[in-house]
Amino acid sequence: MKKRAAIVVTLLTIMSGVVAQESDYAIPPLEKPAHVAPAGVVALGRILFQDRRLSGDNTVSCAHCHPLDRGGADGLPVSVGVKGRMGAVNAPTVYNIAGYIAYFWDGRAATLEELILDGPLQNPDEMNASWEEVLGKLRKDPVLDERFHRYFTQGITPRTVSRAIAAFLRTLVTLDSPFDRWEKGDPKALSDAAVRGYKLFSSYGCIACHQGRAVGGNMFATMGVMGDYFRDRNGGVTQADLGRFNVTGKASDKYVFKVPSLRLAAVTPPYFHDGSVATLDEAVRIMGRYQLGREIPPVDRADIIAFLRSLVGRHPMLKVQP
Ligand code: HEC
Ligand code: HEC
Repeated sequence: MKKRAAIVVTLLTIMSGVVAQESDYAIPPLEKPAHVAPAGVVALGRILFQDRRLSGDNTVSCAHCHPLDRGGADGLPVSVGVKGRMGAVNAPTVYNIAGYIAYFWDGRAATLEELILDGPLQNPDEMNASWEEVLGKLRKDPVLDERFHRYFTQGITPRTVSRAIAAFLRTLVTLDSPFDRWEKGDPKALSDAAVRGYKLFSSYGCIACHQGRAVGGNMFATMGVMGDYFRDRNGGVTQADLGRFNVTGKASDKYVFKVPSLRLAAVTPPYFHDGSVATLDEAVRIMGRYQLGREIPPVDRADIIAFLRSLVGRHPMLKVQP
């Protein structure tokens, strides 16, 4: 275990070196998305994201599991799709995901377009549809069909639907969080507890994995670098627990996950890919024990939580604040 941790830390040092060239900050402030698609395409994506015709029985939209008013995640341990079917993992937020290294907990989709093309729509536990039937329904809608032809010569196809939804998702950035305002020079934007929490987040080493604009999303890491999380969790190991191993088949990728963004963690419980942890306090305690080999005392956890709450920014569709 010790040796594995040393390798991880070396890798992280190399990676944070790369990040440091991009910006002076380990956690750069979130910015308005740079290369946005035409407003009409984004608007189409926004409509489709909330369109239940994307599911086999017209009951479930993307927003069903990623409600944008509630932080872009459904708040359930595992998601419930068509006919009440339960999925295998917790739904992550769809805010602030534009720059991720890859998508899904195990990183099996390289881009947002690819995720939408091969992901939730066909998943029997999620939308349980096929492109053929969904396109059939959408093409019968003359208004939608006309609007698609305005922006895409091909009209409504799996690729253009995916491009429109991906374009919309890229606009979901939560700006002006207290932390970002503080970093940009407003000393009053953060409480003393949050400032202490940021320092602890750095000094404990959380920042080695949760880094970059989204405070995560830019690397993979083992769940349980310093201890056996899965043994202690009880109940055995599921296929989904194998994480990135399911994608690469490499033994070293067992229990490896994309490090999740912590930007909206304060408003999107429960936590971890298995959705097994209800509170941020417990999530931070577990991270200390299994990722860093440290028992983080309650006072430090409270400060770290104050920092995590300060990461929540604003977006017109987001209605929750910590
Ligand atoms: C039934 C619930 C459900 C529906 C419906 C659903 N999702 Fe998801 N979504 C999930 C779950 C669960 C995951 C995590 C799956 C995984 O990592 O294996 C996820 C993951 C994602 C991610 C990856 C985020 C990350 O951190 O990598 C994106 C993006 C996403 N969904 C967008 C969509 C879009 C777009 C739609 C509609 C086409 C949609 N989802 C429909 C539950 C759902
Ligand atoms: C070695 C890399 C690493 C370190 C160090 C680390 N984390 Fe994590 N963190 C992860 C990974 C990987 C996950 C996802 C694990 C899973 O879902 O099973 C995660 C998940 C989380 C989550 C849950 C997010 C969610 O939406 O489910 C929180 C909160 C969190 N970490 C906070 C912290 C804090 C605070 C620290 C420092 C005390 C820390 N992490 C240290 C890699 C790391």
